[in-house]
Amino acid sequence: MNFDVAIIGSGLAGLSVALNLADTRRVVILAKRSVSEGASDWAQGGIAAVLDSGDSTDNHFDDTLVAGAGLCDAAATRFIVDNGRAAIEWLIEQGVPFTKDVSAELGFHLTREGGHSHRRVIHAADATGHAVVSTLNERVRNHSNITVLEDHHAIDLITSEHLGLPGHRCHGLYALDIASGRTVTIEAPHTVLATGGAGKVYLYTTNPDTATGDGIAMAWRAGCRVSNMEFIQFHPTCLFHPYAKSFLISEAVRGEGGILRLPDGTRFMPAHDERAELAPRDIVARAIDFEIKKRGIDCVYLDISHQPEAFLQEHFPTILARCREFGIDITKEPIPVVPAAHYTCGGVVTDLAGRTDRAGLYAVGETSCTGLHGANRLASNSLLECLVIGRAAAQAMEAEGYATSAHEPLPAWDESRVSDPDEEVVVAHNWDELRRLMWNYVGIVRTDKRLARAQHRIALLRDEIHEYYANFKVSRDLLELRNLVDVASMIVESACSRRESRGLHFSRDWPETLPKALPTVLTPPVLRRRES
Ligand code: FAD
Ligand code: SIN
Repeated sequence: MNFDVAIIGSGLAGLSVALNLADTRRVVILAKRSVSEGASDWAQGGIAAVLDSGDSTDNHFDDTLVAGAGLCDAAATRFIVDNGRAAIEWLIEQGVPFTKDVSAELGFHLTREGGHSHRRVIHAADATGHAVVSTLNERVRNHSNITVLEDHHAIDLITSEHLGLPGHRCHGLYALDIASGRTVTIEAPHTVLATGGAGKVYLYTTNPDTATGDGIAMAWRAGCRVSNMEFIQFHPTCLFHPYAKSFLISEAVRGEGGILRLPDGTRFMPAHDERAELAPRDIVARAIDFEIKKRGIDCVYLDISHQPEAFLQEHFPTILARCREFGIDITKEPIPVVPAAHYTCGGVVTDLAGRTDRAGLYAVGETSCTGLHGANRLASNSLLECLVIGRAAAQAMEAEGYATSAHEPLPAWDESRVSDPDEEVVVAHNWDELRRLMWNYVGIVRTDKRLARAQHRIALLRDEIHEYYANFKVSRDLLELRNLVDVASMIVESACSRRESRGLHFSRDWPETLPKALPTVLTPPVLRRRES
């Protein structure tokens, strides 16, 4: 297959790039499951942007830098914050049904979340992601220049080195068509990684099953630098229930007055931080972890029952209904909550137009690292980044023009040296072992000893998984496992190299914060060879 632009991922990052390009380019969007499966569709709280004259982009900039614990890239933060309003106006033009508030300047309700000094989070009740993604999907479906391939799982990028060509371009990708079991070759002068984060590397996560770090691992194998992987954000409040699969209780619940309590009803956040429940996420998650471990309790409680039922129905209909399914009436009782892995702050190093180290290859959204999130992402800045960088990437590709390929057709996927797997259960066991060890040894509070244990076990698993990959035909589970183990290894390597505590990376052995904040940058072997 041949397109002008191949976008791997149908979340907000992929959709933004596609819709900003499709008037002039033939675009294909690949989704490894259905088109709406991804973190974007699950987003609850909303999108942060300055939409009120009482607020300012300087405030948003400062709040982002404070949450990011000194590690945010100032230029990236300035660019994204300054383009916030235009991004929201674009979504309103597309028809996204944000919650209205006739008394507000722009006519839309703005909620508040931890670390924000002002109300600046525009939302569609507590299902913002679904409202945004379904509106944009409708646009995509009606666009004649956009082809959507669902159940197409990108395996690897095709590079100049692959083809024995000079230069360091990306020429397209191989993808597994899940329905037929065949591997297809997609050629495109521009390829965009918009594959989301890697929350599934942890046993407990708010993330959907798609979040297996595929884009980060593919970019790494293709010779792109990856940065700040130790900064995994744990969301403080996920529903604690054996069947809830870490359902998120939005930070907007705390923004609208929710109080965190111990089982005996005592409020505990003011003892940890003067901003109490509205402190940035790293602080709240660590405080909950501390209280749970100190007291030997299973969870803490988030209490919003003092708000009128009509208010909760209007602002949190999804959370209210979901909790009711599990027998919890949030209008009358507190919600049991625990932290869970939520967001990958690091990722593929890009500039402010999503360009990676390889020509023709872009990365946008949670899979990338622009520097906006530093050591801890400010709530609701992620969707904003997808929109702003998505548009900038589309403009950069337009400006680059068509890089027509002057080479033979790309070679087909070679399966001649692999056979059918003999014991698929090994893949399931390795998945479980990896996620459990990451949760136990590379969690909210880290130590050198635990990290060393994780490093040792991951190295063994990695060898085993790569050997399995080399010998057997690929399946979805195997492809994801191979990516997860590569990403886990990057997280641990980055965590080991940081000799301080900063933002989301807290080490008992290195509790101080160094005066100078530096990103952790991992350089892949392919790039090291090229540079030497
Ligand atoms: P995603 O939306 O995750 O999309 C990734 C896409 O890539 C999917 O289509 C997937 O199928 C595809 N894909 C992955 N690998 C492959 C492959 N190998 N081949 C083909 N396709 C592939 N952020 C906010 O700013 N505000 C919020 O209110 C908010 N709430 C959140 C609530 C929850 C429960 C979660 C989990 C996250 C929330 N976040 C929020 C974070 C935010 O939703 C994500 O960071 C953001 O949606 C990421 O968008 P994305 O397009 O980069 O990735
Ligand atoms: C939430 O609603 O709490 C999630 C917001 C975010 O992750 O930015």
